[in-house]
Amino acid sequence: MKGNKMKILMVCLGNICRSPLAEGILQAKAAAKGLDWEIDSAGTGRWHVGQEPDSRSIAVAKKHGLDISHQRGRQFRAGDLDRFDLIFAMDSSNYQDIMRHANSPDDKAKIHLIMNMAEPGKNQAVPDPYYGTDGFDLVYDMLDRACEGIVKKYGG
Ligand code: 4NP
Repeated sequence: MKGNKMKILMVCLGNICRSPLAEGILQAKAAAKGLDWEIDSAGTGRWHVGQEPDSRSIAVAKKHGLDISHQRGRQFRAGDLDRFDLIFAMDSSNYQDIMRHANSPDDKAKIHLIMNMAEPGKNQAVPDPYYGTDGFDLVYDMLDRACEGIVKKYGG
């Protein structure tokens, strides 16, 4: 896969806090390296389909020079396992929800916990910041490290 056009999907629960940030951060890093990657995000839940990202995610992205306000929420579907080469889950709950749709070893091999791209094998979760007030800076920093790892590993 290395060096080729890759299709990457970021998945969280609502697709309004964590995975939109992951999508925006990885898009910026891929563009900076001239990588022709397709990057998208989705949520395992359907509450926020069609909505723009949470205002706190938009704000923390803006602070780092990224505009993610054009993104719109969508729900993860089984067909995403055919469409994408790599699928990154934010936590073990997302991971298990996606895994339930994987029907083959090939499908299963596409699914990873995103923080393992920064600290392999630790199985760390990106904490859900939705109900808190101050978790967005931490989430941004964690996803920035993870996306750096993705570009290093798959960006040739
Ligand atoms: P996300 O955060 O999974 O990072 O987008 C959440 C957003 C909304 C909800 C849960 C988590 N919710 O229950 O509506």
